[in-house]
Amino acid sequence: MEGTEPCVPVGPGWLPGIGHLVALALRPIPFLESLPRLGPIVRINIWRKPVYVLTTAELVHKVMTQESAKVEKGFVFDKARPLLGNGLFISEREFHVQQRRIIQPSFNREKTSQYAEIVFRSARRMAESWIPGEPLDLMDELHRLSAGIVAEALFDVQLTPGQLERLRVAVPAVLSGFLWRALYPAPAFERIPLGVNRKFDKAVTSLRDLVDDLRAASAAAPGDRALLSQTMPPQQLRDEAVSLLLAGTETVATSLSWVLYELSCHQQAQESLRESIRGLLHARTGTDWDKVAGCEPLTRVLNESLRLHTPNWILMRRAVAPLELDGTTLPAGAEILFSLTALHRAPQTYQDSSTFDPQRWERPIARKAFIPFGAGSHKCIGDSFAWTEMAVVTSLILDRWQISSTRRAREKATSVTVRPSKMHIRVQPAPGGLRAAGTLHSEV
Ligand code: HEM
Repeated sequence: MEGTEPCVPVGPGWLPGIGHLVALALRPIPFLESLPRLGPIVRINIWRKPVYVLTTAELVHKVMTQESAKVEKGFVFDKARPLLGNGLFISEREFHVQQRRIIQPSFNREKTSQYAEIVFRSARRMAESWIPGEPLDLMDELHRLSAGIVAEALFDVQLTPGQLERLRVAVPAVLSGFLWRALYPAPAFERIPLGVNRKFDKAVTSLRDLVDDLRAASAAAPGDRALLSQTMPPQQLRDEAVSLLLAGTETVATSLSWVLYELSCHQQAQESLRESIRGLLHARTGTDWDKVAGCEPLTRVLNESLRLHTPNWILMRRAVAPLELDGTTLPAGAEILFSLTALHRAPQTYQDSSTFDPQRWERPIARKAFIPFGAGSHKCIGDSFAWTEMAVVTSLILDRWQISSTRRAREKATSVTVRPSKMHIRVQPAPGGLRAAGTLHSEV
């Protein structure tokens, strides 16, 4: 880091040599939620490396938008690049702008409707396989579902059950492994034959091999329906596919798990949402996907779940030039961290912030205070894709099933997203299911 260290408060729980690693590892989200009371910028240490935590929506927004030219992605991504390639999720600067321009058209409105058909078909297959009264591991189901949807959209090929299972295992293993690697004190630790290292290496190879198989299958059945049908060097195409699979699988799976979990704990909200979505999905006559994605009661539930359970609990940047924030100058080289999860739970912005209350979305909320998909040049490219996916899957499941949870879920922030601990639900046919059968099942 160049220049003098800025004078900002230091977070609680510092320990010699390791800094705030224990606080971050043991209670990451409560720890990050506790920092705003110290000030808008708080210093923590990861080992000896100072990291500046931004604790207000204004500063986070400013760094993501106005000041985005003065930051890059930071040390976690330096580690990821050689292993995971230089796809959109990881790339920077001119190359990022160039790739974003090439890929953006694949996420336009017309394409999103096309993907909604994939979502609908895949989610219906999943929902039809559920057995009334049997406990279901929701995270496993939704990981398999979201991985299959992104992969099919990327390559326009349907995955075999074996390929789906490989993806379900590989994506979470890569995502948590890459976060741990970034926290190692020295690169030599990556070569120690620890279980976590072996699991990560195996998952990266499995993901790359699978992407190569799917690319080959996609090339054998040419068309322009695949999301990645653009002309690009083969290595870059592989990097982009890995990037989109990593960015677009676990985020959706965890977000959807939390939506369904909250609805299973709030039966009245579930019932009322079921009434609102009834009749929106039609298998044979065609569904108006915009109508599903824009259904207001559903929007309130999805917003509230994304607020309370924002998947990206930690995002990072590094200053490439001196960065003036709220009267403090962070020098070039300063590592910056912020938590969208902590921002979205700020009690000064959200009354009863730990309560799941979809009704709060009946009143306007400051735009900068709610950014589950980020903002600025790195804003999520798959935001409408993800929203449509969440809306369609939630509607389809509620239409058919009444869901209840069998145990309380706890948060686990051991990966790049806040996952629920094992989440078991049970399903029973939804009241009025005959009507659902009329719209969804007998029309195929
Ligand atoms: C609920 C689901 C999702 C959430 C909450 C989410 C959230 C985010 C956030 C916060 C960022 C910004 C990261 C940063 O600024 O460092 C991001 C970036 C990204 N997301 Fe998503 N995402 C979701 C789903 C998806 C899906 C479905 C895809 C693709 C199929 C996707 C692809 C990407 C990519 C490629 C980036 C990097 C964009 C860039 O740097 O230009 N995401 N996402």
